[in-house]
Amino acid sequence: MKDRYEIAVVHGDGIGPEICRPALGLVDAALRQDGLMHWSEYPAGAEHFQATGDGFPEATRKACAAADAILHGAAGIPGVVHPDGTEVGLDFTLVNRFTLDLYANIRPIRLYEGVACPLAGVKAGEIDYIVVRENSEGLYAARGAGSLLRGEMAVDPLVQTRKGIERIVRKAFELAQQSKGAPSDGVRRVTCCDKANVLRSYAFFRQVFDEVALDYPDIETEYAIIDAMTMHLVLRPSHYNVIVTENMFGDIISDLAAATIGGLGLAPSAEVGVSNGLFQPSHGSAPDIAGKGVANPYGMVLSAAEMLDWLGHGNGDDRLLAAAGRIRTAAAEGLAEGHMTPDLKGKLSTGEVMDILVGKVAGMA
Ligand code: NAI
Ligand code: MG
Repeated sequence: MKDRYEIAVVHGDGIGPEICRPALGLVDAALRQDGLMHWSEYPAGAEHFQATGDGFPEATRKACAAADAILHGAAGIPGVVHPDGTEVGLDFTLVNRFTLDLYANIRPIRLYEGVACPLAGVKAGEIDYIVVRENSEGLYAARGAGSLLRGEMAVDPLVQTRKGIERIVRKAFELAQQSKGAPSDGVRRVTCCDKANVLRSYAFFRQVFDEVALDYPDIETEYAIIDAMTMHLVLRPSHYNVIVTENMFGDIISDLAAATIGGLGLAPSAEVGVSNGLFQPSHGSAPDIAGKGVANPYGMVLSAAEMLDWLGHGNGDDRLLAAAGRIRTAAAEGLAEGHMTPDLKGKLSTGEVMDILVGKVAGMA
C-alpha cells in the first residue's frame, strides 16, 4: 500500500483526450480521495510529432518507465507516418510494450445489460471471457526488424520463444483460476488459439502450452485454430472463458470479440509486465468522430478500472480494488439504463455520460 501512486497520463490524438481527461476525475471520485492518484500529463502521439518532430519524447519515455502505471487515451493520425510507411502515433504503445516488457495484453470481453448484441438471441452475461494476447513477441516484435529487399519483397519474421510462451500461458491459467468459468457451463477453461497445423512457431506455442497446462490440472484445456476461432466467437461465444494466443492473432480476434459485445468503444485493455502496466481502451483515435464530443467513454472507463485492479492487487491496497468495483458497477448501471453515445444508438455526449458515471460512483457505499 502506498501513500500515493504516480500515474503517467498520455492523452494522445483524436478522441484520446476527449475520453482520457474525464476518466481521471471519475477515478478520483471513485477513490473518494483526491491525490491518492498523482496524475502527471505528458505529450506523445502524431499531433505532437507534427508540432515538434518528435512523437514520443524522451521525457515522456522516462516518466512512463518510472510511473506506477500509465493511462493512455489513443494515438495516431492516418497518414502521419515514418519513412517506412508505419504510423508515428503507434510508437507510444509499441515502444512502451517492448521497452517495459508489457508481455500480457489482457482484454476482457463482456456483454453488458442494455447493450444490443449483434448476435441473434445472445443475452447479457452470456458473453464473458478474456482474450490474453501475447504482447512482446510473435509477428509484431518484427517491427523495425523486418526488411524490404530491393523494393521487390518484404519480410517480417514471426518469433516465439519458450520464455515468452511460458509466461503468457501461465498468465492465462492464473486468470482462469480466478474466474467464474465459461457462461455456458461454468467450466474454467483455457483455449489455446494458434495455427499449429501449418506453422512451426505456432506448433511450438501449443507444445509449450501443453507443458504449462500440467501445472493446472483443475483447468480444462482445448485448442482452436485461428480461422475456426473467428467462427466460434460468433456462433458460440458463451463457451469461452480464457483464450490465449500469439500477438497478431490476439489483435485480430479481440476486435472481432469487441464487435460481439457492442463495438470497440466498449472494450478495455490492460497491458502488463512484471512491474509496469499500460492501460488504454482497445480502440484507436477514431479520427472520423474526433472533436464532436460523441466518443464512447466506456472502454476508457473500464480500462481505468483495470488499472485500479492491477495496482490494488499488486500493492495489497483495498482502497483501489473498491474504487475499481465502483467504476464497474457504475458502468454496468449506466449501460443498463441506456446512458450511451451515438455509436450504441444513444443520444448522449461523452461529457453527459461521464457526468452520470461520476454521480453514480459518488453516491455509492
Ligand atoms: P479506431 O478504433 O480509431 O476506429 C474504428 C471505428 O470505430 C471508427 O469508425 C471509430 O469512429 C469507431 N470508434 C472507435 N472508438 C470509438 C469510441 N470510443 N466511440 C465511438 N466510436 C469509436 O481504428 P482505426 O480507424 O483503424 O484507426 C484510427 C487511428 O487510430 C489510426 O491512426 C490508428 O493507427 C490508430 N490506432 C491507435 C491505437 C492505439 O492508440 N493503441 C489502436 C488502434 C488504432
Ligand atoms: Mg488492434
